[in-house]
Amino acid sequence: MSAPSNILPTTVAVIGAGRLGGVLARALRQAGFDVQGPLDREDRIPASEIALLCVPDAEIAAAALAARQHATFLGHVSGATPLDDVDFSIHPLQTFTGAEDPDVFHGIGAAVAGRTPEAVAVAERLAHALGARPFRIDDAHRAGYHASASIASNLLLAVLDAAERVAVAAGIRPDDTRDLLAPLVTRTVQNWVRTGAPAALTGPIARGDALTVRRQRDAVTAGTPELTDLFDQLCDSTAALAEPRRASA
Ligand SMILES: NC(=O)c1ccc[n+]([C@@H]2O[C@H](COP(=O)([O-])OP(=O)(O)OC[C@H]3O[C@@H](n4cnc5c(N)ncnc54)[C@H](OP(=O)(O)O)[C@@H]3O)[C@@H](O)[C@H]2O)c1
Repeated sequence: MSAPSNILPTTVAVIGAGRLGGVLARALRQAGFDVQGPLDREDRIPASEIALLCVPDAEIAAAALAARQHATFLGHVSGATPLDDVDFSIHPLQTFTGAEDPDVFHGIGAAVAGRTPEAVAVAERLAHALGARPFRIDDAHRAGYHASASIASNLLLAVLDAAERVAVAAGIRPDDTRDLLAPLVTRTVQNWVRTGAPAALTGPIARGDALTVRRQRDAVTAGTPELTDLFDQLCDSTAALAEPRRASA
């Protein structure tokens, strides 16, 4: 793999050896950067052209203070945190557990921002080197952008977990639920990607089949009463999604 242009920084210190720091260090190394790390809090911070803080959001200010004097460009990888303590940000729009291969960045979006044009260029350079697609996000819209990402990933898991629990309460073997539900989830996501949610929606709410929805709700309340509120809220949101289509039918 060839080294990046010598006009732009090539040494990168990755600070924080958690879920994202490890895979990011591997990927940047594979992309040709001279990478130090991932460094944990006991490690000495080396001098580098770029330092990337891969620490929990609440630790960014303290970690930035410690790293500032060692790097020309200091950045973080947080979606929601503004640029108060750093020069730039690059937020990969993906979920990382730490076990991923370096090519996990290929083709994904990466939200970039910087306090100066040079700092933005550093963030974009990193994104391109990782094989990601950079797009700009400013501090005013950061929290909303990150809320969108959380809904698409973290909150989606809460919904999928609810589906599993209701399936188990209905008598499906716990070690079978994900295998049985996965094709349905996968196809639903593929349809959403292709057409958006309103056109992808099927099922009793889309059909206006209120009796079936009532039966479902009774079953949820009987087997997993703690999920009734979630079920009701999701049914309301789904009905709003279905309404324009039903009104025009
Ligand atoms: N994981 C994802 O899916 C994902 C996706 C996009 C962006 N991000 C962003 O990546 C950043 C890190 O998230 P993560 O999921 O990788 O968190 P994580 O798994 O909790 O890892 C954070 C790491 O930072 C270390 N750390 C804390 N304070 C430090 C300091 N002052 N100096 C050096 N290391 C320090 C922690 O070490 P200790 O264990 O010793 O505290 C831990 O190893 C966050 O800004 C997050 O928003 C994460």
